[in-house]
Amino acid sequence: MRKYRILTPGPTPLPEEVKAALFREPLYHRSQAFKNVVKEIQENFKKLLKTKRVPIILSSSGTGAMEASVVNFFKPGEDVLVVVGGKFGERFYKIAKKFNLSPIVYEIEWGDYPKPEKVEEFLKSNKNIKGVFMQICETSTGTFYPYKEIGEVCKKYDALLIADGITAAGVYDIDFDNSNIDILITGSQKALMTPPGLGIIIWNEKAHKRLGVNKNYKYYFDLEAEYKNQVEKYQTAYTPAVNLFLALNEALKLINKEGIENIEKEAKLMSKATLNAFREIGLKPLSKNPAIGVSAICLPEDIDGVKLVKFIRENFNMYIAGGQEHLKGKIFRLCHFGYIDKFDTLNQISAVELALKNLGYDFEVGKATQKALKVFAESERS
Ligand SMILES: Cc1ncc(COP(=O)(O)O)c(C=O)c1O
Repeated sequence: MRKYRILTPGPTPLPEEVKAALFREPLYHRSQAFKNVVKEIQENFKKLLKTKRVPIILSSSGTGAMEASVVNFFKPGEDVLVVVGGKFGERFYKIAKKFNLSPIVYEIEWGDYPKPEKVEEFLKSNKNIKGVFMQICETSTGTFYPYKEIGEVCKKYDALLIADGITAAGVYDIDFDNSNIDILITGSQKALMTPPGLGIIIWNEKAHKRLGVNKNYKYYFDLEAEYKNQVEKYQTAYTPAVNLFLALNEALKLINKEGIENIEKEAKLMSKATLNAFREIGLKPLSKNPAIGVSAICLPEDIDGVKLVKFIRENFNMYIAGGQEHLKGKIFRLCHFGYIDKFDTLNQISAVELALKNLGYDFEVGKATQKALKVFAESERS
């Protein structure tokens, strides 16, 4: 029997409590029972993000929430700065372009991270820039972006910071009210341990003043309508993905019970174990500033990453992620967030070792897994 293991940086595995919520009869979305769930989700999110602001839950994937941030807080013709250092930075650029903003690109090499000084140069030389769009973790390269420092710069130049935290919320202790982020986006299928299908967006008082600046180009993603419904009435404007809401509520309870500080610490440890494990057998991380939730590891020239991922899938029924766009075949990516623990990390590393051996990479099998195990043993002692 080959056990199914989904260890990608989204979707992630589901805890039993979350699975049980998915199997329930759907609640009627205008009932008091459902309103109670919406209220609970809001309270759980406030606790997780340490904020007084209320998150808005959209029945869409994370990209829907990205689109909502563009169409609700900006209007056609406005200058915005977009950090493009991977697939998801590119996506923000494409959305901004599609809705006729005037995006200016701060392009960085994939694996590199944006520098606050450089963002300042952009904002200083163009006082019309109304917002800066970027990821907290660029999932395609496993890179962490210094959002607090960049947020300081945005504040100084009165530009909003729109942070895509789709693979950061629920991994990092974001502390929204003290984060310098004006608009934060996340999605259900990553660290929030819920299936794909919910996009979440939360914004501060400053951003709220710009809500509705654009009267066009939106209907389903009208955040004024959602805000009125969700904040004032604990219901959504249209029929929501009811069972995903129920599932998200269960997941948030588990996350808050564990505590975001502990979750962040554990992700850091899994990331350290993974990076050290692969260094031990000559493989380096792609990123110059690795994120703790996703590790992107470079492969030797003669090893095809597409074959590596396929070998693991076909032989072990385990899913890990490969590279995207020009990194396809050149890297593989392992996840350390959501319902994934140290022992999943060891499985991921062992599976990659077996695949590398099968594809002809010359190294001592077991060395990487052993290194990870040693990192875990050291942390147990300390
Ligand atoms: C950083 C980041 N942004 C945006 C997205 C897009 O989210 P979705 O696939 O839920 O639309 C992803 C998904 O992997 C992501 O990791």
